[in-house]
Amino acid sequence: MASQLLSISGLSAGTEDKPILHDIDLEVGAGQTHVLMGPNGAGKSTLGHVIMGDPSYRVSSGSIAFDGEDVTSLSPDKRSLAGIFLSYQAPVEVPGVPLYSFLRTICQMRPELKMTARRFRERVAQISEQLDMDDAFLTRELNVGFSGGEKKKVEMLQLLLLRPKLAILDETDSGLDVDALSIVSRGIEAYRSECDGALLMITHNTRILERLDVDRTHVMVRGRLVAEGPASLIEEIDSNGFARFESEQIAEA
Ligand SMILES: Nc1ncnc2c1ncn2[C@@H]1O[C@H](COP(=O)(O)OP(=O)(O)OP(=O)(O)O)[C@@H](O)[C@H]1O
Ligand SMILES: [Mg+2]
Repeated sequence: MASQLLSISGLSAGTEDKPILHDIDLEVGAGQTHVLMGPNGAGKSTLGHVIMGDPSYRVSSGSIAFDGEDVTSLSPDKRSLAGIFLSYQAPVEVPGVPLYSFLRTICQMRPELKMTARRFRERVAQISEQLDMDDAFLTRELNVGFSGGEKKKVEMLQLLLLRPKLAILDETDSGLDVDALSIVSRGIEAYRSECDGALLMITHNTRILERLDVDRTHVMVRGRLVAEGPASLIEEIDSNGFARFESEQIAEA
């Protein structure tokens, strides 16, 4: 059995006044690719945010272990340093911080990513080329005025630079044109092959998954994980939607 990188047990969480996630058990092994699907409003993004430690949510019971350590009460920056990465469904804009400086700072915070300024410049140039990104983006303020697709590419740039142990990608494919989708897919593939990182892909679109070998698929309905199965579950959902999961609670597909 693969050693579990992420191990969530009996997790219930929500905002101060609204329970959203109920009794979630989820395990992701090192280097594995998992997919999380479910209808709008099911709680998928909330789960991503709770794994990352977003303070807007409160864990009422259960635990999150990452790489052998209980991270349930760690701050988001500590979780990030431990190797968890979350790409946001709607990436935030940070006025006043040029993208290049932002990337340099987050790399310098990680001892394993310490490199000379020259090596850093080369690595960023290499990844930008891989993602078909113009150098001009690097001097612009982080995400300010970036189009939806450009923001997603910036997240891919961060992913390839940071080489996290687990990347949670929340609808990284949404709003991408066909060319950008294929570039971002190649970025994800590069992360898998170059960094051997684990993936938790939250998506409504199966095209982004075409280049990936999916180990497990999870289905969330109304804040509960109601089914888990192999990659073929994605095709079933693509053809039949979520109706069967909404009407019955299935422990194992
Ligand atoms: N900070 C918050 N404050 C209030 N309600 C919230 C908050 N975050 C999430 N919710 C609610 O929790 C539910 C789950 O939201 P979430 O964004 O996790 O769904 P989702 O599965 O990611 O949906 P989608 O597929 O549309 O992205 C929704 O009803 C949402 O309105
Ligand atoms: Mg969402």
